[in-house]
Amino acid sequence: MIRPASRVQKMGRYVFEEIARMKREDPRPAEDIFDLGVGSPDQPPDPAIIEMMAKQLRARPLENHRYSPFDGAPEFRRAVANWYERRFNVSVDPDKEVLPLIGSKDGISKLMLAYLDPGDTIVVATPCYPAYLGAAKIVEANVIELPLLPENNYLPDFAAVPHQVWDHAKFLFLNYPNNPVGAAAPLSTFKEAVALAEKFDFIVVSDLAYSELALEPNVPTPSIMQVPEAADVAIEFHSFSKSYNMAGWRLGYVLGNREVISNLVKIKSNMDFAVFLAIQRTGADILESEIDFAEAQRKRYRARRDLFIEGFGKLGWKLTPPPAAMYIWDRVPKRYADATEFAKEFFKATGVIVSPGSAFGSHSKEFMRISMVVDEQKIEKLFGKVRVSGFKFD
Ligand SMILES: Cc1ncc(COP(=O)(O)O)c(C=O)c1O
Repeated sequence: MIRPASRVQKMGRYVFEEIARMKREDPRPAEDIFDLGVGSPDQPPDPAIIEMMAKQLRARPLENHRYSPFDGAPEFRRAVANWYERRFNVSVDPDKEVLPLIGSKDGISKLMLAYLDPGDTIVVATPCYPAYLGAAKIVEANVIELPLLPENNYLPDFAAVPHQVWDHAKFLFLNYPNNPVGAAAPLSTFKEAVALAEKFDFIVVSDLAYSELALEPNVPTPSIMQVPEAADVAIEFHSFSKSYNMAGWRLGYVLGNREVISNLVKIKSNMDFAVFLAIQRTGADILESEIDFAEAQRKRYRARRDLFIEGFGKLGWKLTPPPAAMYIWDRVPKRYADATEFAKEFFKATGVIVSPGSAFGSHSKEFMRISMVVDEQKIEKLFGKVRVSGFKFD
């Protein structure tokens, strides 16, 4: 056999692949398995979104099927700029400061290819979306983790990172509302990050995939672009996957610093084409719509969150309710030093899959993430199971 490249040999399996295997090999019937592992939305998009797509498909039967321009459909970029103006009161140039992506994961990994040589340093606030760590491994970058701790409300303590690290860093990755911890950050966090980036000359990467999923009305979900100097040093990723249940469509975008965007276009134009034009145009229709399609999502996740917190609470597992996103993050019962052990035992005993904290960074191994991706009936069924109520949570 031909040996794969050393970067592949060094790579572990994506943690969710492991979970998928455990689930596949389990003999229990599907209705007795409760998969709260992967953060993949369980509902379809709103029927109006499907209708928008059907219309777009019919509208330009020939043009739709051609390659999209590398920098995407101009009407999509304009819709993003208009939405930013309305949503965040921020102006961006749709021609130079916005780029559609094949889902934001596409942009995150190619950003690293565009900027990082082996051994380059990046600072990542962790626990984090595992794709940051995976993409950094591919380009053999040196990742310095900035721990997000419950005692700081999961906000970064920038002062804890030594100056010499900031001096070398090329990126700082921040994600609020956060996967996996469900925390939100005020604009002051982004202000601090931008000031640091100006001082030490690095790029702040804000991942705003969950901007529309604040679970309470007073939870802040600012954009880093609201910081006046952000366009000099920052970019921001967005996704249609979670706000609109469109994970399989693969539509996202990045906006902000034009030099970074142009270097990303350079990489992407050598590796892919932009998303199917009918999808980009549907994305534009969603952003331009009077309807806030994310409202139903917020309601749904809020109701599920309350059921989970109450259900586990009654069984003696007191979990902290998240203010945002679709995840519950907390410590596993004390008798487990490592949440991987807990996740395996919990699955075997109850059929419930959760994600161990070690998937999201190196200092959260006693934590686990619950993705709220099963409906209320299924949650009730989960708590109705003798096997779940018989599990010892203390
Ligand atoms: C923080 C964060 N960013 C980005 C993504 C990826 O989104 P997309 O489907 O747009 O690639 C996810 C997916 O789980 C995520 O949690």
